[in-house]
Amino acid sequence: MKNNRRKFFEKTGLIGLGLAGSGILQRSTQAMALNGEMDTARLSKQLEKAHVQRFNMSGFAAPPIEKVRIAIIGTGNRGPNYIDNMRHVEGAEFKALCDIRPDKVQAAKVRLAGTKHDPDVYSGAEDWKRVCERDDIDLVIITTPFYMHTVMAVYAMNHGKHVVTACPAAATIQECWDLVETAEKTRRHCKMSEDVNYMPFHLLTLNMARQGGFGEVVHGDCAYNSSKMANNFSKTFYWDMWWLKQYASRRGNIYPTHGLGPVSSIMNINRGDKFEFLVSIESNDFMMKAKAQELAATDDFYKPFAADNYRGNMNVTLIRTTMGRTIMLQHDATDPSPETYIHGIYGTKGAALQYPLAPRLAVGNMRWVSQEQFKELEDKYTPQITRKLSDVAIQLKSSEGGTDLLEDWRLIDCLRNGLPLDMDVYDAAAWSCIVPLSQWSVLNRSNSIDVPDFTAGAWKSNKPNMDINLEQGGNTKVLI
Ligand SMILES: NC(=O)c1ccc[n+]([C@@H]2O[C@H](COP(=O)([O-])OP(=O)(O)OC[C@H]3O[C@@H](n4cnc5c(N)ncnc54)[C@H](O)[C@@H]3O)[C@@H](O)[C@H]2O)c1
Repeated sequence: MKNNRRKFFEKTGLIGLGLAGSGILQRSTQAMALNGEMDTARLSKQLEKAHVQRFNMSGFAAPPIEKVRIAIIGTGNRGPNYIDNMRHVEGAEFKALCDIRPDKVQAAKVRLAGTKHDPDVYSGAEDWKRVCERDDIDLVIITTPFYMHTVMAVYAMNHGKHVVTACPAAATIQECWDLVETAEKTRRHCKMSEDVNYMPFHLLTLNMARQGGFGEVVHGDCAYNSSKMANNFSKTFYWDMWWLKQYASRRGNIYPTHGLGPVSSIMNINRGDKFEFLVSIESNDFMMKAKAQELAATDDFYKPFAADNYRGNMNVTLIRTTMGRTIMLQHDATDPSPETYIHGIYGTKGAALQYPLAPRLAVGNMRWVSQEQFKELEDKYTPQITRKLSDVAIQLKSSEGGTDLLEDWRLIDCLRNGLPLDMDVYDAAAWSCIVPLSQWSVLNRSNSIDVPDFTAGAWKSNKPNMDINLEQGGNTKVLI
């Protein structure tokens, strides 16, 4: 292995975890792109041309599964969230929990003490493969660091499992294609979890857009800006300092989907429109190297991090769609401004903006509506899916205002009823490919780069598939 390749795999923790010898070795081009060695992003059009859609996964419905038998791979911060939600969802059954840290996987199992669930636990470096190979599991939920998601998802689909990955689903363009090709080949669901799509105002605006309340949607502003400085420099918050290492080895928007997911649904991306090209611009890093150096002055643990150069504080990516819409997507995980999930929709007849709070709507007269009129519009456009679980979410004190619970409930409800999922593999690929493409643009003086069409032209006839008014299904109970 070349020295710089080895250094990358050591840094990212891939060596020794059963991943370095797998396909991810060839696919993880991100660090090499920084060195100008390899560049799959630049090759994205060639990769698109080489793809033949075997089967259109848009609108795909698998046979109903009455009892959904679940495995979770990665039980750090995010994995247990699925446990806390899905143990309340009728028909969900945990069969396996897997994490290379035995204490984490045991702690995850303890969360299920006193319930009907009794999952097996796994903590070997390659045990995630054993989990995928089991024949009594329907759904594998992958909540490991994001650069591991694809190799695990592909393996799980190849072993007949439906897959949910945490966001982003993939780290390179090749990985995006791997997800698409494997889902089409195996006809297994591959959903990237994006709970922000289930926030009440985001769902309201989706319904309003579908009913023409914005006229033609022209532009979307979106962001996930939330300082992770304390978490990233904590010795214990993330496994093996993986996020800090990502900040040191990448440029561009490395966490695009919280902002982009809801806007993409409203613009019917992959279902009537698609991303055409993007440009990305990034500030310098004004904080991370300084923080690493400050910590290294008194603690040798941080010395390797003090030598690194980090991704900039703020990334702004502009996307143009094939049907002529525009999107401005931001990501900043450093500066201590208040957390914001900007969600701005601008159309020919109306507009919406959330963050800063309170949310606002406009209906075409160049002013935000009054509080009274907002309430009327809220009543008119709040979809059934939001109403469905709002009381239950409050009772269960579900995190992020119940959006995770709503997403997880809806996933199990769709699987039990044999319905298409709210997001499919093309969403996972299109939303995640912003990671490598924005990096390419940043490293190339913000030049534009095409976004591949992961649907191979099917976007022209694919139908919207997020059934926010619960015309089908909706009969899965939440168990208090
Ligand atoms: N709102 C959201 O959608 C949301 C929120 C938080 C995190 N995330 C995503 O969830 C993922 C996990 O983030 P996190 O904060 O939980 O990180 P984390 O470091 O807390 O958890 C990752 C876990 O993966 C385990 N792991 C590493 N290699 C493994 C292997 N080979 N086999 C099994 N387990 C392995 C680690 O031990 C660790 O416990 C990330 O992709 C992140 O982007 C999404």
